[in-house]
Amino acid sequence: MRKSRVAVIVGTRPEAIKMAPVLRALAGSRSLEPMTVCTSQHRHMVHQILRSFGIRHYYDLNVMRKSQTLWDLSGRLATKLGRFFDQNPADAVLVQGDTSSALFGGLCAFYHKIPVGHVEAGLRTGNPHFPFPEEMNRTLLGSIATWHFAPTRDAVGRLKNEGVAGTSIYLTGNTVVDALRWMAPRCSDRLLKRLVGAQRARGRLIVVTCHRRESHGAPMRSVAEAIAEIAGRWPEVTIVFPVHPNPAVRLAVMPVLETLPNVILCEPLDYDQFLSCLKHACFVISDSGGVQEEATALGKPVLVLRDETERQEGVKAGALKLVGTNKTRIIRESQRLLTDRRAYQQMCRASNVFGDGEAARRIVNILERSLRA
Ligand code: UD1
Ligand code: UDP
Repeated sequence: MRKSRVAVIVGTRPEAIKMAPVLRALAGSRSLEPMTVCTSQHRHMVHQILRSFGIRHYYDLNVMRKSQTLWDLSGRLATKLGRFFDQNPADAVLVQGDTSSALFGGLCAFYHKIPVGHVEAGLRTGNPHFPFPEEMNRTLLGSIATWHFAPTRDAVGRLKNEGVAGTSIYLTGNTVVDALRWMAPRCSDRLLKRLVGAQRARGRLIVVTCHRRESHGAPMRSVAEAIAEIAGRWPEVTIVFPVHPNPAVRLAVMPVLETLPNVILCEPLDYDQFLSCLKHACFVISDSGGVQEEATALGKPVLVLRDETERQEGVKAGALKLVGTNKTRIIRESQRLLTDRRAYQQMCRASNVFGDGEAARRIVNILERSLRA
């Protein structure tokens, strides 16, 4: 019997992390075979992550250009993905999340009349401009998809409210928890010590990441100034900040932070190394979607550098607090976590609101059943 071919689109770092468990589960399927399509919207970071998960064979569409605009990127994605599906017929296409690669993967599959599965469906803030352009991308994918793989009950409810048929929505959990569980035993203190030094690895650690497009410029500079102030007030605390390669991010944070002795600015870390940092962190300051989910699963408080989040489950679980990009607020909330033991403990609650580590298996089972029918 011919196996059904499932094209899995991966463009950016979070897609690579969240699709890796799906790719592994597809590889073990008797009736499906994966075809990994890396658009290379992010070249270095995606290749780095695929390597971390032992994924070596993939088509590379090579769309990344330095400081690419959304419209240039979109044009290249449409052309290259469209041609790819012409030359490589697929029985189903899987896209993840809300990036440009995901949107154009879904749209080009639709143009080829290939059914689309949307992994991490149903996340919304309700504001089409925040996060930008992700809220619009994922909403549009909600109209394109045949299978909606929702990570949480709230996501299922939102899709139903938007008129998506209940029979095409599947509650699977978020595959990021699968990725975290797979990688966690492969993390070691050695990686952390190499990065921050043996002595600092024993002390308190804050992990910082930021990259959101809507925070480029003044808001991101204000975040950097807050980090500088925190580093100055608590010199015994080490701040690890893997800087996103987007030039707009580097321009905002490097000049403010690069000379501070207890701020370790580094290139994006391998996934096992980043998870080692997260596991040792006393708390996290971040605007990342994936980091909000991982930190919640690990019971690490996150000060979220945004005014809204599509991951309200983490806020309700007590692990996430929205602080925006205001300098004074970030310093005040960090001070609370560093000095008020009770307030800190209240946020250290590991929670499985985002998944139980079995999402990829569920997704593959659903596809096996649907494509056989
Ligand atoms: C993209 C996604 C965003 C996602 C984020 C995850 C879109 C529109 N944005 O944002 O949803 O949350 O990735 O990180 O899909 N660059 C490199 N090397 C890399 C990656 C990026 O040099 O490995 C630089 C390039 O100059 C590139 C720039 O970063 O032009 C911006 O990349 P882009 O994918 O357009 O946007 P992100 O802000 O990374
Ligand atoms: N991450 C990583 N190395 C780093 C920083 C982050 O592997 O140096 C991982 C992190 O664990 C999470 C993902 O990258 O799973 C988040 O990616 P990003 O913040 O770029 O995108 P978002 O999740 O906001 O879309």
